[in-house]
Amino acid sequence: MLYIIDTANLEAIEKAYNFYPMAGVTTNPTIISKENKNFLVILKGIRKIIGAESMLHVQAVSLTAEKMVQEAEYLNSVIGGNLYVKIPVIPEGIKAIKILKQKGIKTTATAIFTAQQALIAAVAGASFVAPYVNRIDNISGDGVSVVAQIVQLFDQYDIDAKVLAASFKNVQQVHNVALVGGHSVTVNPEILDAMLAHPLTDWSVNQFVNDWESVYGIGKTTIDVK
Ligand code: E4P
Repeated sequence: MLYIIDTANLEAIEKAYNFYPMAGVTTNPTIISKENKNFLVILKGIRKIIGAESMLHVQAVSLTAEKMVQEAEYLNSVIGGNLYVKIPVIPEGIKAIKILKQKGIKTTATAIFTAQQALIAAVAGASFVAPYVNRIDNISGDGVSVVAQIVQLFDQYDIDAKVLAASFKNVQQVHNVALVGGHSVTVNPEILDAMLAHPLTDWSVNQFVNDWESVYGIGKTTIDVK
């Protein structure tokens, strides 16, 4: 499982990379515009925090293949490192994915609501496909089952592309995606923290500390007690 953070907030990215085993950062035009700053400054800031090896997924905003390709080449040259250009699975996007594959620029097919969209994008050459789990659930679909179908299709046809499940509103959706073999998930900072939180974990840790300190002294650790 690859854990990816879905934000353009530098503080949140720094915290996630400090504490958790992060494989990358995803952004989209909405996420970037929330920061309300020059987008290149934001993206270069992210790259500086995560380093050149970590994945950074950045979306092209054009609606024609020609322009998407131009954006992808531009983003690749100015941001650099392990970059994936997110391209929506409209027909012009699939055309752009094919061209970018030939040019050696990595893509993540995005705005995916059906397994067939994912399969076509992967066959066209996308490295990742991003089904929108919660947005599917919101229209009375089953986001986890779409992820499961994509995983099955990729296995069946021996396709190298990976699922990057996105658009989560709760930890249970992330858990269910993991159970059906989703290769990676991108989650916002709140869900990332919630994935680890449990009141009984905190209670247990406090009890361990209290019991230890009642015998060995307040603030003493295993190193301090001789
Ligand atoms: C991935 O980067 C997607 O754009 C993102 O997860 C969508 O999430 P939302 O449905 O919460 O906006």
